[in-house]
Amino acid sequence: MEETLSIIKPDAMERNLEDEIKKIFIKNNFEIVKEKKVKLDKKEAEQFYKVHETKPFYDDLCNYLSSGPVLVMVLKKENAIADNRKIMGSTNPQDADQGTIRKQFGISIDKNSVHGSDSKENAQKEISFFFKD
Ligand code: CMP
Repeated sequence: MEETLSIIKPDAMERNLEDEIKKIFIKNNFEIVKEKKVKLDKKEAEQFYKVHETKPFYDDLCNYLSSGPVLVMVLKKENAIADNRKIMGSTNPQDADQGTIRKQFGISIDKNSVHGSDSKENAQKEISFFFKD
């Protein structure tokens, strides 16, 4: 069994897509083992996305993630990290496959509705960022 961190981002929260997106995870055999709704401040968003600090989109990304409440979840199943990335689809909703969360709900590369850890190392870091115990 593997765990990954998932975030339902402000654009999806604003459109009340929380339950619909959670249902997709459950339908795809993920167990939601922890969840909480949080509103990050800019500094917390900067810490969370520190791996992207040299990227030109970093500041906009951190402003965006701290712009409204988000739902953070620990998702568990075999191959959770890769399987979550598969059902999320490509970062840019325009490039995402039909049937993926980002294709269905994403608005733009920034407002792409969900985040998911991209590696075992980052999954562990991201889970402990939000869930300290
Ligand atoms: P996420 O999976 O949360 O990880 C970093 C985020 O940066 C990504 O989703 C996108 O929403 C955002 N982003 C904005 N511009 C880019 C870009 N050019 N390439 C990759 N990610 C980008």
